[in-house]
Amino acid sequence: MTIRLAGIIVGLVITGILVLWSLLPGVINYSAPEKPDYYAFKEELIQPAGGFSFEGPLGKWDTAQLQRGYSVYKQVCSSCHSLQYVAFRNLQEIGFSEEEVRAEAASWQVPGIDPNTGEDIMRPADPTDHFPMPYPNETAARLANNNAYPPDLSLITKARPDGVHYVYSLNLGYKEPDPELLEKTGFETPTGLYFNVYFPNVNLAMPQQIYDGLVTYPDGTEPTAEQISADVTAFLAWTAEPKMIQRKQTGWVVIGFLLFMTALAFLSYKQVWAGMKPKNK
Ligand code: HEC
Repeated sequence: MTIRLAGIIVGLVITGILVLWSLLPGVINYSAPEKPDYYAFKEELIQPAGGFSFEGPLGKWDTAQLQRGYSVYKQVCSSCHSLQYVAFRNLQEIGFSEEEVRAEAASWQVPGIDPNTGEDIMRPADPTDHFPMPYPNETAARLANNNAYPPDLSLITKARPDGVHYVYSLNLGYKEPDPELLEKTGFETPTGLYFNVYFPNVNLAMPQQIYDGLVTYPDGTEPTAEQISADVTAFLAWTAEPKMIQRKQTGWVVIGFLLFMTALAFLSYKQVWAGMKPKNK
């Protein structure tokens, strides 16, 4: 009896420690001191109505949305941002056929070498090529962007806290600087920078990119700014973690397996002790 009680107590203590341990980062974050001053005019991140299809334990990619997001990246973002960890053949994973990938790749120009003269040339991309850098190097990129460097976007939704909602919000966060804020903080947006309530210091070197009706979608989706931002954000969530959905599905299989093994262990425990008579009877 005492042994059993002791066992239960030890079990509870260990479970308690594990639970606390896994919640610890959240607790620390929650109780952390106030954010730095400049966060005073940073607004809460926003998200599309109904959230993203890939969020949550049962999330799924919306391939039509990923394809729309790809077209936004291609038409808008790719003139400044690279996507160096993504190859054209990866587009097959978001529902393009092999033929379409080949045609899509060929519509991009990548650096190559002329086989006859050995000179540097631009050639149409192959499916095995990665998305090209829009600038020859970082210096050229900074020169064109008020000395700021447009970061590679392959992993951006992973590289920022709450990255998916951050990228969605940032695209939509360009506003007129609030005069009250201006007075309160003595803050002014310098020439060449743009006021955006979601950027940590509210001034970034990227001008507003997304407007209502900026692109037209072949599938008839209405191209509101919110829709375009959601689509390109979903696409960037996919580039950052193409295996996200498989990962979540594996989680369910693992939980099922553990439940099954628990049941099995319990039954075999019953079986092993079936012949034992209780002591006190
Ligand atoms: C005209 C060039 C240009 C275009 C086009 C452009 N960007 Fe940018 N982007 C920049 C520059 C420059 C920066 C760096 C800003 C800074 O550090 O102040 C940047 C930064 C970013 C960042 C990172 C912000 C951070 O937290 O550091 C994201 C995310 C981003 N861009 C997304 C996009 C998306 C999505 C598109 C397409 C809809 C796009 N950009 C199109 C120039 C551009």
